[in-house]
Amino acid sequence: MTTTSNTSNQAIENFMQQQNDLDMLRFITCGSVDDGKSTLIGRLLYEAKCIFDDQVASLKQESISYGTQGGDMDFALLVDGLAAEREQGITIDVAYRFFNTDKRKFIVADTPGHEQYTRNMVTGASNADLAVILIDARKGVIEQTKRHAFICSLLGIKQIVLAINKMDLVDYDEATFEQIHGDFLAFAQQLNFGTVTAIPMSALKGDNVIERSVDMTWFRGPTLMAMLETAPIPDLANNHGLRFPVQWVNRPHLDFRGFSGTIAAGSVAPGDEVRVLPSGATAKIDQIVLFDQQLDQAQCGQAVTLTLDKEIDASRGDMIVSAKDPCEVSDQFEVELVWMADDQGYLGRTYGMQIGTNWVNAQITEIKYKTNVNTMEQSPARTMELNDIVVAKLSLDKEVAYEAYQQCRQIGAFILVDKFSNATVGAGMINFALRRAANVHRQDLAVDKAARNKLNGHQGKVLWFTGLSGSGKSTIANAVEQKLHKQGIRTYILDGDNVRHGLNKDLGFSEADRIENIRRIAEVAQLMVDAGIVVLTAFISPFRAERDMARALFDEGEFLEIFVDTPLEVAEQRDVKGLYLKARKGEIPNFTGISSPYEAPLEAEYTLSTEDATPEQVATQLLQQLEF
Ligand code: ADX
Repeated sequence: MTTTSNTSNQAIENFMQQQNDLDMLRFITCGSVDDGKSTLIGRLLYEAKCIFDDQVASLKQESISYGTQGGDMDFALLVDGLAAEREQGITIDVAYRFFNTDKRKFIVADTPGHEQYTRNMVTGASNADLAVILIDARKGVIEQTKRHAFICSLLGIKQIVLAINKMDLVDYDEATFEQIHGDFLAFAQQLNFGTVTAIPMSALKGDNVIERSVDMTWFRGPTLMAMLETAPIPDLANNHGLRFPVQWVNRPHLDFRGFSGTIAAGSVAPGDEVRVLPSGATAKIDQIVLFDQQLDQAQCGQAVTLTLDKEIDASRGDMIVSAKDPCEVSDQFEVELVWMADDQGYLGRTYGMQIGTNWVNAQITEIKYKTNVNTMEQSPARTMELNDIVVAKLSLDKEVAYEAYQQCRQIGAFILVDKFSNATVGAGMINFALRRAANVHRQDLAVDKAARNKLNGHQGKVLWFTGLSGSGKSTIANAVEQKLHKQGIRTYILDGDNVRHGLNKDLGFSEADRIENIRRIAEVAQLMVDAGIVVLTAFISPFRAERDMARALFDEGEFLEIFVDTPLEVAEQRDVKGLYLKARKGEIPNFTGISSPYEAPLEAEYTLSTEDATPEQVATQLLQQLEF
């Protein structure tokens, strides 16, 4: 009895050990059911006599409220980031299956082949080492094939297996195979692949999936399984400098101070010289701690705590890198961005950005172009729709350590998050940092804001009036300005109707244009406050995101948001300019309150009610509360 049990325990242990020693290939299958994708995966799993064929995660979930973010999630990989998105209200449909042969373990990500699901594919492919692109031999290279290839290239997948399937339906014809292979290679020239291996197969009949085909003896290349079992897996542990995003500073007592996180790339050993980015401070690794053990070495994928030989300031979001092979820091990037939300994305809007363990604010400052994934055509864009893929420029509110995605996926990937709903809206990849940011330095000027304020005898400020059209913003702002002027305070009014005749005459009332309208006003107001002026702005400024973006440009206490809280019914009844009437008739599109939203402030400094007082009285009441 005992012997039997020992033997079986031993067998299990041996088996487990063997499993641990196997390396792992991650791959994605691209194609639709019509191309025979399910049949192919089914045959692969069946013939491989998988030890476990487990549909581990079918990631179909509807919006679940955000709240599991916690402080310490590891976003080393884009896919991990997106895994968390399932809690953040995005529907992603990817099935991961695990299987193994005696040579290797595999994780295959299977995404629906359906047209609209770019974001699913991005999720499934984001950490794949290889992609199997299926083609129906009767159809050849079609738009869908190009789309799949483009996304694989975008995500940095270097190894492509072109599975030219259903060869049994074209009489196992070599010329057909060669034609399709040639067509694909011609297209793939513009993409960024390392190897493209075409395999003629019939998933249904089992030709060249695992067994060699007896009907296609003309084919001398590998079977699909042979390919999967031998495809090289990038060795990020040995061929890359250390990249260790600090997740938290571990300080259980005064004598111990370590930096905890997961090694994103490279390896580390005690004595290694490291640099902390963005500060650039250098030190040597003292210990690598894992629970109560000290390790001689640790490599990518391992979660450890590092201690340094001297006290250095580092905190969450910083990156510890090898001093010999460091990466760079920047706050402006050109990126590839995949829009994943049903809500549009806007040029000029600021989003939350998670990159590594860093949370920063990132503004989309330019959308260079949008690529039509079916035709590869590039077109200009000011907004992004679900599944759009664009090249854009981002401006961050602080510097981060980074590496181009194509050099290091673990460091070069990020997600964008809507700042109000906390839903993930985009996944992106850094192309490069914009040198412009590094080379344009702010000029230090001898006369500064403090000097100007002193001369004026008061501080510069912004009184940011927001409210519906016809709420009374301009009238109240005018009354306030007159009173301030009388007190000898230097003022200036920026008013919607006026600014739109000059600086912003190129802008209309689409969401994108309103965002740009407010962005410019905020920048102008910032210059004026710097000049020591009290600026009164009177714009509907309907979106919270832009009002907050404006606020973020100013020092504490300089930006006062004033909500002119006139209900829609009242503004519409007054209809001073007759615009509500026109809007109701459908003659003015995107009219605020009627066909375009107004997001009332949640934490305005002042809220003014205009129903029971004249603008003059409201202005007086407001002024009693203001200090300069
Ligand atoms: S904002 O939304 O971009 O802040 P802004 O304050 O500059 O708007 O301009 C609003 C003024 O433009 C309104 O008071 C009204 O006179 C005029 N207007 C013209 N079309 C629209 C529209 N579709 N929605 C709102 N206001 C409009």
